[in-house]
Parts: sequence; C-alpha cells; structure tokens
Amino acid sequence: MNGKLAIVAAMATILLLAACERQEKAATAEKKLLPPAGFVADAGVGERLFRAHCARCHGPGAMGSDQGPPLVHSVYRPAHHADLAFYWAVKDGVRQHHWHFGDMPAIKGLSAEDVANIIAYVRAEQRKNGIR
Ligand code: HEC
Repeated sequence: MNGKLAIVAAMATILLLAACERQEKAATAEKKLLPPAGFVADAGVGERLFRAHCARCHGPGAMGSDQGPPLVHSVYRPAHHADLAFYWAVKDGVRQHHWHFGDMPAIKGLSAEDVANIIAYVRAEQRKNGIR
C-alpha cells in the first residue's frame, strides 16, 4: 500500500513540475512578445524598420501593394486591430482572412521593441489619414 502511495505521489510531483515548466515557458514567450513596461516607442525608428521589413507587402507609407493590404485602412484602426494584433502578426504570421493576398509569413529578426516602434509609426500614419 505504501509503495503504491509513493508511486502516486511521485507521479503527481512529475505532473506538477511539468505544469510549472509549461507555465514558465508561456511567461517567457509573453515577455518576448511585448516590450518591457515603460518602453517609449519611436515612430522615426519604426519608419526605417517598416521600410526594411514590411513595406515590400504593405507598401510605402503602409498604403498597400500588390503583395499585401494597406495598414493605413479603417480595418486596422486601433479599436478593430489593437496593438497586440501587430505583435502576433509579426511573431506568428497571419492566415489570409480579410483580403486575397495569401498568408503573411512570420517576420524574423525583430524584437518586441522593434515592433513597438513600427506600431508607433503605423498609428501615426493612420492618424495623419484620419483613421483613429
Ligand atoms: C510577405 C508579405 C508581408 C510582409 C513582409 C508583411 N506582411 Fe503583414 N500582412 C500581409 C498580408 C497578405 C496580410 C493580410 C492577411 C489577411 O487578413 O488576409 C497581412 C496582415 C497584417 C496585419 C493584420 C493582422 C490581423 O490580425 O489581421 C498586420 C498587423 C500586419 N500585417 C503587420 C505587418 C508588419 C508590422 C510587418 C513588418 C514587420 C508585416 N506585416 C510584413 C503580408 C505581409
């Protein structure tokens, strides 16, 4: 009986440890998705990053191209696509759902801070064009 109890206890411990590890991994992924609290994004830096990593599909000034939709578009206003949608889009890519350009691939090599700067740039362009 004691032997069985010991086995059950050992199994429970293993399950608990596995669950903790999974949670830790999720927390790390979340940390990398978003910049640290208090990070101040720079739209000027974001513009350069946008040109290098996004403009070939989303077009100069985020106005769209034959490879991807404009992000300066009311579909992407903050109330409809919050900043989190941008972080996820860059990290995991996007399945075609609003348009007919195909899927967006995940964009490698950008930090959470880089994406925050890009978002600041896109939001500024949206506001310039009356999209709020
Ligand atoms: C290879 C082409 C391509 C590149 C490069 C690209 N995108 Fe996209 N992106 C797309 C397409 C196509 C869609 C539209 C998918 C749909 O809704 O049909 C899209 C959609 C999005 C969306 C909307 C996500 C949603 O939840 O609907 C965001 C935000 C976005 N892109 C941001 C970016 C940013 C920021 C970059 C640069 C770091 C970038 N994209 C680079 C092709 C691209």
